[in-house]
Amino acid sequence: MAGVSVQAFRRQGRRFGAGLVCSEMVSCAGLHHGNERTLGYLRIATDEHPLAVQIFGSEPALMAEAAQMVVDAGADIVDINFGCPVKKVTKTGAGATLLEDPDRACRIVAAVAGAVDAPVSVKMRRGVEDGSRSCLELGPRLVQAGAATLTLHPRSARQMYTGDADHAVTAELVERVDVPVIACGDVTSLAKAHAVLEGTGAAAVMVGRGAQGNPWLLRELLGDDCGEPTREEVAAELILFIRETVREMGERRASGFLKKFYGWYLGRGRFPRPFKQELVVLETTDEVVERLFAAAPGAADVLERLESEQPVVDDALLDLPISIYGGG
Ligand SMILES: Cc1cc2nc3c(=O)[nH]c(=O)nc-3n(C[C@H](O)[C@H](O)[C@H](O)COP(=O)(O)O)c2cc1C
Repeated sequence: MAGVSVQAFRRQGRRFGAGLVCSEMVSCAGLHHGNERTLGYLRIATDEHPLAVQIFGSEPALMAEAAQMVVDAGADIVDINFGCPVKKVTKTGAGATLLEDPDRACRIVAAVAGAVDAPVSVKMRRGVEDGSRSCLELGPRLVQAGAATLTLHPRSARQMYTGDADHAVTAELVERVDVPVIACGDVTSLAKAHAVLEGTGAAAVMVGRGAQGNPWLLRELLGDDCGEPTREEVAAELILFIRETVREMGERRASGFLKKFYGWYLGRGRFPRPFKQELVVLETTDEVVERLFAAAPGAADVLERLESEQPVVDDALLDLPISIYGGG
């Protein structure tokens, strides 16, 4: 998820039991031009594997080049974005636009699959317009072109995130292809995951927004029902996330980036309502951490345990200048 699945998010997901995590979407044009911020997305830690790195673009040759770069950086799977509904992306012919440009979509998949030994997966929406069934025609062709698995988020691009994901479409896609299909959309509980898996015959579910500030959902999906996290656990997990993110992108970028996460985390742990607002207006992450410890003093012990269990970060380092990492 763009703006969400940074390295700290992915490592947290793996720690809570996710079988596979995925990067933010990475621009193939940005990689081609050696854009520093884009290259920074290729920073992969050893405890993230298995990891998919997602690329987007509309030129088969550039996508093939980008695929080689992400595999060289350590990606286990190259995922192709045919779902992004955001105008900035669709107007370049990339993302969800490719759902309505099947020949080009197939050429992209064939070029990427031909360029790397790693498996290639494709993430799609159902189509561009509401009610579209484009993914059902396109899916089998993408498999023929070399896609080893398909992930479907069965909303139209037009819908953005409104309405419900229509997993009846996922079930149809499962019938039409002989590769594993991953069902994505509105999986927010164990009951929902079961319903989607049973209703579609999909091989797996992918969790997006449900895991934002709630890694405990992943544990729940694995049948490990530890109940709601305590206030101390929520605070400790958030503090660890803050520290990891600052290490990843530096204080200046991280302090702004992290603000959206405070509300996501603090929905659990019975924090007083105004507390979230208090955190959002603080300038530095040190101040946020201080407030969290004050609100949940027992978090220090939980955090100490979490940090002692964290593997030492051993990035598969690219030979890139430190400025790419925001100095962090
Ligand atoms: C903030 C945000 C960023 C996203 N970025 C991406 C992305 O970069 N690539 C992608 O394939 N999907 C992206 N998605 C879509 C999600 O992967 C997922 O398909 C969608 O949110 C539905 O699943 P959910 O209901 O579990 O969130 C994004 C979603 C959100 C909310």
